[in-house]
Amino acid sequence: MASSKIVDGKVVLVTGAGRGIGRDIALLAASEGAKVVVNDLGGSVDGEGGGSSGPASDVVKEIKAAGGQAVANTDSVSDPAGAERMVRQAVEAFGRIDGVVNNAGILRDRIFHRMSALDWEQVIGVHLMGSFYVAKAAAQHFREQQSGAYVHFTSTSGLIGNVGQANYAAAKLGIVGMSKSIALDMRRFNVRSNCVSPFAWSRMIGTIPTETEDQKARVERMKQMTTAKIAPMVVYLLSDAAKEVTGQIFAVRMNEIYLMSQPRPIRSVHSAEGWTPQAIADTAIPAMRKSFLPLDVSADVFNWEPI
Ligand code: NAI
Repeated sequence: MASSKIVDGKVVLVTGAGRGIGRDIALLAASEGAKVVVNDLGGSVDGEGGGSSGPASDVVKEIKAAGGQAVANTDSVSDPAGAERMVRQAVEAFGRIDGVVNNAGILRDRIFHRMSALDWEQVIGVHLMGSFYVAKAAAQHFREQQSGAYVHFTSTSGLIGNVGQANYAAAKLGIVGMSKSIALDMRRFNVRSNCVSPFAWSRMIGTIPTETEDQKARVERMKQMTTAKIAPMVVYLLSDAAKEVTGQIFAVRMNEIYLMSQPRPIRSVHSAEGWTPQAIADTAIPAMRKSFLPLDVSADVFNWEPI
């Protein structure tokens, strides 16, 4: 029955939906009744190499074969005009736009002292600038129709930390700030904005070295965190069932769903006379030190097997 489908009739744009997590979101959204713009420029994991229309149109074929509705788009999210075209394509093909999933991404991992300005700019360009361009292109439509839902992809590389990912961490935390700001600014238009921080086996994490037996075993376990496990949370957030849910960050790892914290003061110290650098060293830091967070990476915090 059509009426039992959670995003029935909604028009959804999913970026980077030719592969990985985005592909599964597009497939599930379509099977839950959405009309989907499947965007993917078809590049390599580091954003290099000629784009290919293959991945996006393959997903469209898959959706149509299953009886759903979809169109392919091969623009880059890091091109403002491309972002405009994606949204226009949704409106031209299906008459409106109800949801934007900012999922497209690349990696250019480098230890910080070797990170070039290009590594920085390209990752910021796809993740942070790209998420902005696509969100911005839909904003006027959302305002006019007084409804809309954004789902942006963040990462525990930004929320917690990871080695060699300063560009990616900065972009992914920037996206969290943007999402919260959109949630605040567009609440008056009934528009929602949330972040999802996924853990999933995709080509993006497929570059993890597998030299030792331990590493091999770890990778085998990670392969069980399939990309399809992320899609239900995203499709829920696009639906009217989530109409009270905005400004939040959810993490999804296999069959676990987490509500993530957002920074709040955890300790404060006060001095009636004000502080000198020496007084901070003598009093403020000793008082706060017990509450310092360790230099954790994501895997230190998520230190149990995916379940
Ligand atoms: P993936 O590499 O399998 O898929 C990303 C897709 O985005 C690719 O098909 C690629 O062609 C496309 N893309 C790249 N640049 C683009 C551009 N400029 N315009 C349009 N499309 C573009 O990666 P995966 O794992 O599915 O990642 C999806 C999202 O989830 C990303 O935002 C990633 O940062 C995030 N993420 C993934 C994690 C994981 O465990 N797989 C962990 C944390 C975050």
